[in-house]
Amino acid sequence: MTARPTYSPLFDFLAPSIVTSRRLHTSPPSPPPIDASPPTSTPKNASPPPPLTPSQSAFLDSALRVNQAGELAAVLIYSAQNPLLIKSHPHLRPLMKHMYDQEAGHFAFFNTLLAKHRIRPTALYPVWTLAATALGWGTAFMGREAAMACTEAVETEIGGHYNEQVRVLLDWVEKLEERGEGVGEELGGLVEALRRIRDEELEHLDHAVENDAKEARPYELLTEVIRGGCRGAIWVSERV
Ligand SMILES: [Fe+2]
Ligand SMILES: [Fe+2]
Repeated sequence: MTARPTYSPLFDFLAPSIVTSRRLHTSPPSPPPIDASPPTSTPKNASPPPPLTPSQSAFLDSALRVNQAGELAAVLIYSAQNPLLIKSHPHLRPLMKHMYDQEAGHFAFFNTLLAKHRIRPTALYPVWTLAATALGWGTAFMGREAAMACTEAVETEIGGHYNEQVRVLLDWVEKLEERGEGVGEELGGLVEALRRIRDEELEHLDHAVENDAKEARPYELLTEVIRGGCRGAIWVSERV
């Protein structure tokens, strides 16, 4: 990641090397369960959080880049699916709008983070744009069940992906707490946001299954191909 100028957040968790003297205040330890809410206020006896290590910064750069690419794809899939799907099945309009709106919110969230921390988007942004649009259009053309199977497959992979990120960040939180150090509002806020987004993706998965995703034909082939594509896209976007 390239060097960036100092800016208002006191603790730039993505570029600790340039903000070693400016950190957010600390916050109290969270309860021990791995999925516990991160702390949100400052304990009197906690020391400020240390800057992230280079490997932690690299992890977050990579994770946020993948997340932005994934949310771009989600927005484009629904954008391509919705006209066909809603025309054939008008009763799906509220559900499709609800899921689209949530994806648009996720995309905006990661766009803001990438811009704020000057993380470059994946170099394959144009490729994912085309692929996601084609996937959305193609599955909608195959029918309602295939469109829902697409959502089920994508959200299965993406939900697991977000879950892994939450797990890593909560491990950092736990280690900070063990050392009596605060977590910082920015890292704590990111954990909270990732958990909320993960839960919304899993809600989409449930909606898809409730709307006959498993009736798609050929269900196994379709979902395995899409899930494999998601894993490949994540792997590549983490690197380029
Ligand atoms: Fe999303
Ligand atoms: Fe989603």
